[in-house]
Amino acid sequence: MGEKDFTSPFSFLLLLFLFLSLFLHAKAFDEDVSGVGAGPLVKKEERRSLVATEYGEISATEIIDGMGALYHLQFLTLEPNSLFLPVLLHADMVFFVNTGSGRLSWVVDQDEMRRVNVRRGDIYRLQAGSIFYIQSSLAPERQKLRIYAIFANTEESPYEQSIGAYSSINNLVRGFDKKVLQAAFKVPEDLIEAITEGTKAPAIVHAGPTKEKTLWELEARFLKVFLSDTGGMVLSKKTRTFNILEADPDIENCYGRSTTVTRKNFDLLKDSNIGLFLVNLTKGSMMGPHWNPMATEMAIVLQGQGMVRAVCSSSANESECKNMRFMVMEGDVFTVPRFHPMAQMSFNNDSFVFMGFSTTRRRNHPQFLAGKRSVLQTLDKEVLAVSFNVTNTTIDQLLASQADSILLECDRKYVRKHTSFFYSTTLVYLVLVLIEL
Ligand SMILES: *[C@@H]1O[C@H](CO)[C@@H](O)[C@H](O)[C@H]1NC(C)=O
Ligand SMILES: *[C@@H]1O[C@H](CO)[C@@H](O)[C@H](O)[C@H]1NC(C)=O
Ligand SMILES: *[C@@H]1O[C@H](CO)[C@@H](O)[C@H](O)[C@H]1NC(C)=O
Ligand SMILES: *[C@@H]1O[C@H](CO)[C@@H](O)[C@H](O)[C@H]1NC(C)=O
Ligand SMILES: *[C@@H]1O[C@H](CO)[C@@H](O)[C@H](O)[C@H]1NC(C)=O
Repeated sequence: MGEKDFTSPFSFLLLLFLFLSLFLHAKAFDEDVSGVGAGPLVKKEERRSLVATEYGEISATEIIDGMGALYHLQFLTLEPNSLFLPVLLHADMVFFVNTGSGRLSWVVDQDEMRRVNVRRGDIYRLQAGSIFYIQSSLAPERQKLRIYAIFANTEESPYEQSIGAYSSINNLVRGFDKKVLQAAFKVPEDLIEAITEGTKAPAIVHAGPTKEKTLWELEARFLKVFLSDTGGMVLSKKTRTFNILEADPDIENCYGRSTTVTRKNFDLLKDSNIGLFLVNLTKGSMMGPHWNPMATEMAIVLQGQGMVRAVCSSSANESECKNMRFMVMEGDVFTVPRFHPMAQMSFNNDSFVFMGFSTTRRRNHPQFLAGKRSVLQTLDKEVLAVSFNVTNTTIDQLLASQADSILLECDRKYVRKHTSFFYSTTLVYLVLVLIEL
């Protein structure tokens, strides 16, 4: 399969023509991405800082998917033995624990308090309307508890940017005047005073036996009253997390492993539109070119560095297309919007690990370009041969030479300079779009 197959004059004409048709196809997306976090890459230092105290930090960014919905991502970092104070959740939240360990406590159905210990690799979901708080453990290794969370945005559980992802219990309670509170809670005046007069605590505090602790205890007591007339709390035991690091990978070979979690293997995601994935590419490997017809993938780099190539599909502007090849490192967020073919590669010197959230409103099957699972395998070979203006044999060779679709060896020559990869990916993709039209 020579390169000339992809660069013959006919192909270029086809490419141009197809770019035009795609332009129309992708216009809706174009209009939507003019706002926040629209690009495929958000560097770690570009995140917005929401909280920064000596006990922890919270930063955030927004991502817009290919279907006009906005997703809010938050990155919580708690120092060992710190406490993220109770908040009322405004939207469904799905999170992943990147490092450290701790305990998540939350309230469901008014009077039931649940707790679950979380550690590295765990994922969990809390529903909109839950009140929760998180305490990081004082483990001997003193690792920070790092949590990456996404807030769902669906019709049933919309994310409203104006009201944010959650509000602190503290603020909710203090918003009322003392008489109302006293009448509502039927507690002594001094308790109300203590709650409302105390200095306002930051979102993250030290969990040790200090002044804040007293404040925290008061708040917990208050929360208890606030949640139930009887003041009783049931501690439930039947909660468990799902550890993605210990889950069976979907694909595993010498080039890495890829694990996905959806409502099928984790009950808690049942009526959620969010799935998770974890990809660990060993040195010099590649996640094969693919795209999602129905979902947007938002990935966060956990370890190492990598190169991401995204096919510039919404405009024929060469100078912008060049931007679609970028290096990512720990803490960066990169997005694969719907219909945008992308491949991720690790360098020769280190493995490249990223996890992410995928959002979909319908069933999504990622489409891979190469190998046995290639979408091209299902198309008529003759039609393909004509599309590329090559012989049947060339198409046969193209599809037969690679057995794997997903995790591949990364050819260094390709990574460094080749554009034919782009052309071939774009072309095939465009042919498919055309067929779909
Ligand atoms: C296909 O390619 C051959 C040369 O490789 C060229 O002669 C022929 O004109 C091309 N066909 C079309 C339809 O462009
Ligand atoms: C990724 O794989 C490498 C090599 O197999 C391993 O050393 C590393 O711990 C893995 N990282 C994660 C986050 O699973
Ligand atoms: C292409 O990009 C260049 C540089 O970013 C810009 O000056 C030019 O107007 C763009 N052309 C189109 C058609 O968008
Ligand atoms: C690995 O190689 C890349 C690209 O050459 C370089 O940017 C990066 O710093 C290297 N990483 C390590 C750990 O040496
Ligand atoms: C391609 O295959 C079809 C059907 O098998 C055959 O009719 C056609 O002649 C073949 N074309 C070439 C160029 O081999």
